[in-house]
Amino acid sequence: MHGVDISERFVALARAEAPDGVTFERLDARNLAFDGEFDAAISLCQGAFGLAGGGAVPDEVLDPDATVLEGMARAVRPGGAVALSAFSAYFQVRWLDPEVGSFDAERGVNHERTVIKDESGTDAEVDLWTTCFTPRELRLLAARAGLEVEDLWSVRPGEYAARVPDLDHEEFLVVARRPA
Ligand SMILES: C[S@@+](CC[C@H](N)C(=O)[O-])C[C@H]1O[C@@H](n2cnc3c(N)ncnc32)[C@H](O)[C@@H]1O
Repeated sequence: MHGVDISERFVALARAEAPDGVTFERLDARNLAFDGEFDAAISLCQGAFGLAGGGAVPDEVLDPDATVLEGMARAVRPGGAVALSAFSAYFQVRWLDPEVGSFDAERGVNHERTVIKDESGTDAEVDLWTTCFTPRELRLLAARAGLEVEDLWSVRPGEYAARVPDLDHEEFLVVARRPA
C-alpha cells in the first residue's frame, strides 16, 4: 500500500505510524505518474479530489479534479478499482449558510474561511475551496477518465452505506473499475 498527500507534515506523521510494507510520499495528486501498479486507488473525504479546484488553482490548470481522477484511473491495472467520495452540490446548496461560506454556481465551488490548528494548538484562518458535484457529473468525469462506474451512493463521511443518491447526505461515493 502506498499513500500520497500534498502535506509534508501529514506524510511524515503517516510514515512514523506505517506498518511494514506501507509507504508514503509527498505528491500533488494533480501530478500522479503511476502507471498500472496498483489493484485499487482510493480518495475519500476530499482527499485531493474536490480540493484541487477553486481560487487557489492557476489559470493553466483547466479541470484539476478531472486530472486527479485520470491519474487515479491510470494508477490501477486493467480490471483495477477506483473509489472516491466527493462533496454533494445538492447538500451544499441546500444547507448553505451565507454567514459561513459562498457558493460559486457557475463552477460548483464552495468557498469558506475556516480556522485550522497547528500541532501546538495555535489557530490560523485559511481559505477553503471545495468543489461540489452531482452524480451525473461524477459519472461523466469517470467516463472521461476511462472508468466504468459500478456503484454510486449517497454517504456521510465515516458512515458509508449503499444508499441511492439523495439530497440529505454530504457526499457521493463512486466505485468504478478500469476495464480489463
Ligand atoms: C479532508 S482531508 C482527507 C484525508 C483522508 N482522505 C481522510 O479521509 O481522512 C484532505 C487531504 O487532502 C490533502 N490534499 C489536498 N490537496 C491535495 C493535492 N492536490 N494532492 C494531494 N493531497 C492533497 C490534504 O493535505 C489533506 O490531507
